[in-house]
Amino acid sequence: MKVLVLCALLCFGGSLAASVSTSGVVVCYYGEWSNERTGNGRFGVSDLPTDLCTHIVYSFLLLNGTTGGIIAPEETTYEGKTNTVADLIALKETNADLKILVAIGGWTEGSTNFTAVVNNDTLRADFVSNLYNYIDSNGFDGLDVDWEYPAQRGGADTDKEQFVTLIKELKEAFAAKSYLLTAAVAVTQSHIDLSYNVTQLNEYLDYIHLMTYDLHGTWDTVTGVNAPLYAQLTDDSSVNLNVNNSVHVWINNGATPSKLVLGLGAYGKTFTLTSLNDTSTGAPFTGAGAAGPYVAEAGVYSYYEICEDQKYNATQWNITEVEGSYVYANKDLFWVGYDNPNTIKAKAQYAKTMGLGGIMYWAVDLDDFNGLCGDKYPLISAGIAGYNSS
Ligand SMILES: *[C@@H]1O[C@H](CO)[C@@H](O)[C@H](O)[C@H]1NC(C)=O
Ligand SMILES: *[C@@H]1O[C@H](CO)[C@@H](O)[C@H](O)[C@H]1NC(C)=O
Ligand SMILES: *[C@@H]1O[C@H](CO)[C@@H](O)[C@H](O)[C@H]1NC(C)=O
Ligand SMILES: *[C@@H]1O[C@H](CO)[C@@H](O)[C@H](O)[C@H]1NC(C)=O
Ligand SMILES: *[C@@H]1O[C@H](CO)[C@@H](O)[C@H](O)[C@H]1NC(C)=O
Repeated sequence: MKVLVLCALLCFGGSLAASVSTSGVVVCYYGEWSNERTGNGRFGVSDLPTDLCTHIVYSFLLLNGTTGGIIAPEETTYEGKTNTVADLIALKETNADLKILVAIGGWTEGSTNFTAVVNNDTLRADFVSNLYNYIDSNGFDGLDVDWEYPAQRGGADTDKEQFVTLIKELKEAFAAKSYLLTAAVAVTQSHIDLSYNVTQLNEYLDYIHLMTYDLHGTWDTVTGVNAPLYAQLTDDSSVNLNVNNSVHVWINNGATPSKLVLGLGAYGKTFTLTSLNDTSTGAPFTGAGAAGPYVAEAGVYSYYEICEDQKYNATQWNITEVEGSYVYANKDLFWVGYDNPNTIKAKAQYAKTMGLGGIMYWAVDLDDFNGLCGDKYPLISAGIAGYNSS
């Protein structure tokens, strides 16, 4: 295995703001459909690291745009692994401090049902009370709203304002039992302009989960890593797609740093290179990388799919780590841009240095939860170490 370490402008993190002394939240999104994966990919409630995560976010409820009703995922059990809500909530018996939230929405849900509901006072009131009842009757600690994104992807112009109305009404409904209310949000200024009134959301939300990943992918014209902390070495100065810029954007628009939670991707974005003449970021590609053996999605490799292939085919991989910012690697024409424990640690240190409330993972089921490549949960452990070390 050839490993090249480049030191970007700031190997160790840049300007140091006042650091906070409390240890932060560790928010672990849990995609319940990971129960459907096969072999070492199959993930169940019993795999959740209740000693590492402070918050688990069960994903996703969907919604009925005609009624304001909510649609819960199918409960499944395979080979002794299960995704049931009852088993999930029972984890609180072994860790009384663990908070378990449920998320509604997600990329696939999109906007149209949210738009239909939030812009109608009757449907919105029903939606709020349906959500409250679902949380209350199942024993969840709160709700994470994952509308991707207000006034985009088929939404309406009024969504930006009505999203605030929804969040405000949820906060009021949740007050009686102090249920937590959080949201997952997009992270560029153009998304904020379209979708979010940051000062208003900041007032009502307990935490704002920054989706600081998916910054590059096959929609681009050249290769790029999933979530570079700082600009990629090949970016020209007009490109501002990096984690650092996203955090500054949310703070500059009025978010309280301690309410912001830094999103970390436990996966990489994959491409098929045009040729081996250019294997860096900014290289031409012909399409998505082929699907991996477990997650089975073209263009995406979980961290455990990356590390397992690198472990068993070590001599075939060229790996380049731009220290403290990102990693990219290729095996022949297969290219992946991702995070390893070093870059995750650097990002978590950055989160602490910026005074953020903690770190968040998409998703707990994509880290090396079996320990296929070493210790279990290397990325979550590295993030906690990073946050606590600065
Ligand atoms: C939404 O609710 C309506 C009325 O109860 C029902 O007919 C419809 O099937 C529901 N849609 C979904 C997707 O569940
Ligand atoms: C709402 O959600 C349902 C099921 O999730 C989906 O079939 C439908 O297309 C969505 N949109 C609208 C406008 O109902
Ligand atoms: C709001 O939704 C209710 C229930 O579906 C419907 O009866 C009413 O016409 C809707 N109001 C508007 C303004 O669309
Ligand atoms: C946010 O909402 C407040 C209260 O309605 C309003 O005064 C402010 O102009 C809004 N800000 C943005 C950026 O839309
Ligand atoms: C981080 O972002 C801020 C705001 O855009 C910028 O001033 C700073 O130079 C960035 N840091 C690095 C190392 O790029």
